[in-house]
Amino acid sequence: MRTMIAGLMLAGILLAAPLAQAENPIVIKFSHVVAENTPKGQGAQKFAELVEERLAGRVVVEVFPNSQLYGDNKVLEAMLLGDVHLAAPSLSKFKRYTKKLQLFDLPFVFGDIAAVERFQRSPEGKTLLRSMEKRGLIGLAYWHNGMKQLSANRPLRVPADAKGLKFRIQASDVLAAQFRALGATPLKKPFSEVFTLLQTKGIDGQENTWSNIYSKKFFEVQDYITETDHGVIDYMVVTSTEFWRGLPGDVRTVLEQCIAEATAYANRVALEKAVSDRQKIVDSGRSTILTLSTDERVQWVEAMRPVWAQFEDVIDRELIEAALAANE
Ligand code: LMR
Repeated sequence: MRTMIAGLMLAGILLAAPLAQAENPIVIKFSHVVAENTPKGQGAQKFAELVEERLAGRVVVEVFPNSQLYGDNKVLEAMLLGDVHLAAPSLSKFKRYTKKLQLFDLPFVFGDIAAVERFQRSPEGKTLLRSMEKRGLIGLAYWHNGMKQLSANRPLRVPADAKGLKFRIQASDVLAAQFRALGATPLKKPFSEVFTLLQTKGIDGQENTWSNIYSKKFFEVQDYITETDHGVIDYMVVTSTEFWRGLPGDVRTVLEQCIAEATAYANRVALEKAVSDRQKIVDSGRSTILTLSTDERVQWVEAMRPVWAQFEDVIDRELIEAALAANE
């Protein structure tokens, strides 16, 4: 009798196990700061859809755009506490965890996104994905946004035009040095505050990609955007080492495939939006886009490039060489 009861109980447990799994799926919270109609917003959404297709009942991805859950300053701390599981901060926002990624902030290292992509695929680029493991973070992929442009309420044709102006920057010492080299004042502010700061003239200008300038309406409160392509805003999709290693192996494998497909998708959106969002700004007539002559461009390079010397020791000269080689 006892054996029979024990057998029935065991059968009950075994039958209940898949149900319990379905009732308690693993929840992956993906927090980001940009709008949904951006490369990162679309990439996060695509990832959630792929997971829904392939791991329905086992994993649920909840995406929180527009700094709804965490802003720039808090998301990585929250990740280490287990309160959020995926994020894709700009490569400029990892300074507390590694100094190496400051490479991506050096002005005029990469000629275009194709060069950025080649570097990210190189052995050196891949190694950087693992550079924060000791600090509890794993990089799962790079996602593109695009090259940065400079905006202000005064036309910025040559570096001297930026002198004395206040520019919002991401929390990066390289970017601070870049604006100081122009005789301007850099202010580190979260992305969520940029529009209001521009609107209320708390700052005079900012640097960002076409998709961020368009989706957050910066072009409506900036009279001029200079097409400088002087730097890049790209992302690293990160998770906590503890969370990632704690996942069942089969789930992790499927999630890795979903990340790879979402990466390809986000990168296609990035290339498209760098063209289409720029065009939408032109069509709006709200902001004038200035293109630089070769001579003007050389002046920006000459004004900003000295910043490299301040950071090459911490970043590592060989890493900079590898990045430069990706332009060829
Ligand atoms: C910014 O702060 O300007 C960007 O990093 C925002 C983003 O995530 O693209």
